[in-house]
Amino acid sequence: MYEAEAPVNIALVKYWGKRDVSLNLPTNSSLSVTLETCTSSDLQLVTRTIVEPHHEDSVILNGVESAPNERIKRCLKYLRSIADFPCVKVRTENMFPTAAGLASSASGYAALVTAISGMIPLDANQKSIAARLGSGSACRSLFDGFVLWESGIQTDGSDSISKSIIAPGHWPELCCLVLILSAAEKAVSSAAGMERTVHTSELFPSRLEKVPDHIAHLLRAIEQRDFSKFAELVMRDSNQFHAVCMDSYPPVFYLNEASRTVIHLVHGYNRENVRLAYTFDAGPNAFIFCLEAELQSAKELFLSQIPGLATSNIVECRVGRGAH
Ligand code: PMV
Repeated sequence: MYEAEAPVNIALVKYWGKRDVSLNLPTNSSLSVTLETCTSSDLQLVTRTIVEPHHEDSVILNGVESAPNERIKRCLKYLRSIADFPCVKVRTENMFPTAAGLASSASGYAALVTAISGMIPLDANQKSIAARLGSGSACRSLFDGFVLWESGIQTDGSDSISKSIIAPGHWPELCCLVLILSAAEKAVSSAAGMERTVHTSELFPSRLEKVPDHIAHLLRAIEQRDFSKFAELVMRDSNQFHAVCMDSYPPVFYLNEASRTVIHLVHGYNRENVRLAYTFDAGPNAFIFCLEAELQSAKELFLSQIPGLATSNIVECRVGRGAH
């Protein structure tokens, strides 16, 4: 029996668009931070996975058994091309709502690949490729701290690899509050949303031109621990990602009323100086960054101003280590 745990990651510069759909090769590089939950509630932003030899490949996700889907098959096929291993029963549990914009597929595939790495020897690049074949963003949950996933240029994806570029200990004061504003499944999957954007958005090509600069500037802000620069770049990238979603036709909306309230609250709070940043993935839940000194007042702000938000819907995180 091989066991692994993988955290979620949140993209600071988003991956949105595929240059190869079946290999999950992205149209742009992305930069993320791996999150470690630091509240001791039942809600932990991790996936726990156990694999064991079995007479056929099967998956039990959150207690429900099914045959492996195409993405899992693709991931297992690649792993078996490196070194053969027997059929496996995969028991996997998300300690948070699945498919609610909390990147459950990212932690899920990172945990699967890490558990299988107990059965066969895999190097970091092979793990990154295997996780990416399951879900693009999963290749970032394997690694610690701030993680860069290079889009690569090869058609076989051999250079589309993620790696940790800044260790978690670099910026210990940086906190992330995850506000769970809705646990509902998203109406448009990220795969379907990306495809629509790539084929229909007129703004999308101009985003692609700018992403390398966004990444370079953000890396500099992180290296210098410059929170206000960091915050502006992170919020702008999130807004631009949601703008290209809305520029797709028919438009794709991932934010809801509560998400928009969060955006207004943050800009109001930042009027004098920039102390909070938001980012949203393909879902309405908010990821709020702040420095430790601001944590308590940030929590109070959202608890008092977002109708229905309770302490139990806020998960406190720090920059953490990847799958293990
Ligand atoms: O890895 P996927 O297919 O779930 O796509 C993730 C896309 C975003 O979460 C919206 C952005 C990102 O870089 O994680």
